[in-house]
Amino acid sequence: MADGQEETNNMKMHPSILRVIEQKKAIRAKLSAIKHKIGVYSAKGGVGKTTVAVNMAYALNGMGYKVGLLDADIDTPNITLFLGMEGMWDQHYPLKPAEKNGVKVISTAMFVDDARKPIIWRGPMIGKMVLEFLDSTEWGTLDYLILDLPPGSSDAPLSIIQLLDLDGFVLVTTPQHIAAINTIRSGMMAKRLGVSLLGVIENMSEGDAKGAREVAESLQCELLGSIALDRKFAELSDKGMVPVLEDSRIREEFISIVKKIGG
Ligand SMILES: Nc1ncnc2c1ncn2[C@@H]1O[C@H](COP(=O)(O)OP(=O)(O)OP(=O)(O)O)[C@@H](O)[C@H]1O
Ligand SMILES: [Mg+2]
Repeated sequence: MADGQEETNNMKMHPSILRVIEQKKAIRAKLSAIKHKIGVYSAKGGVGKTTVAVNMAYALNGMGYKVGLLDADIDTPNITLFLGMEGMWDQHYPLKPAEKNGVKVISTAMFVDDARKPIIWRGPMIGKMVLEFLDSTEWGTLDYLILDLPPGSSDAPLSIIQLLDLDGFVLVTTPQHIAAINTIRSGMMAKRLGVSLLGVIENMSEGDAKGAREVAESLQCELLGSIALDRKFAELSDKGMVPVLEDSRIREEFISIVKKIGG
């Protein structure tokens, strides 16, 4: 056999492809104690992906499930800010997620001593960090791992799609046509790469969920529900408080949504 080549199922493969296959196998084995893995995603920024990821996680936890939150927004991590978590964490390998009110959390913010410091990394480093999180974190047994994805369609979503057997993506849009179009793009990308769409949520909704209906019709996916525009979200999140734990109406909105994805 030629140098640097191996034979798998009678096919010769380049070592770099074999490495990816091996890595994928190792990550799958490592995460096999996690029953469901769900990405929260939209290519559009600011629609409420982190808000949805955090509140879905706590809604599920409140229903008795063991939940982990992975901040896949590697260069602009926000989860620890939304949860009022401060300080650095034990960075020894394997990485141990921090725990906040019963939910396990991991974020690059935990490896930076000041949240205001920028994380300036090129694409390959971002992909590597996602891999590091997936490969090196000891989650233990979880019912749900919720992944908060960054906007856009670059390295983080691609790495996650490549490396994980996701149950699927929950898409988030706002009522505006432009947000819907960008969310449709995200859904089409996911479908093209073979990832299921669990459905779409309209956030900052003002009534008729027209943005989410546009997305659901275009992608032929379920409309999971809508979350009203409510200043409490920003006020509570800015204080590091979780709306689902503080407000019964918001809790009901999220419980109704997570029930539709099997919670
Ligand atoms: N339903 C809502 N009503 C009012 N404000 C909201 C609502 N949902 C989210 N917000 C606020 O909108 C802002 C953006 O939300 P968030 O950070 O969750 O969006 P994102 O999609 O994760 O953004 P990015 O693309 O930067 O990751 C936050 O200040 C958040 O508190
Ligand atoms: Mg976000």
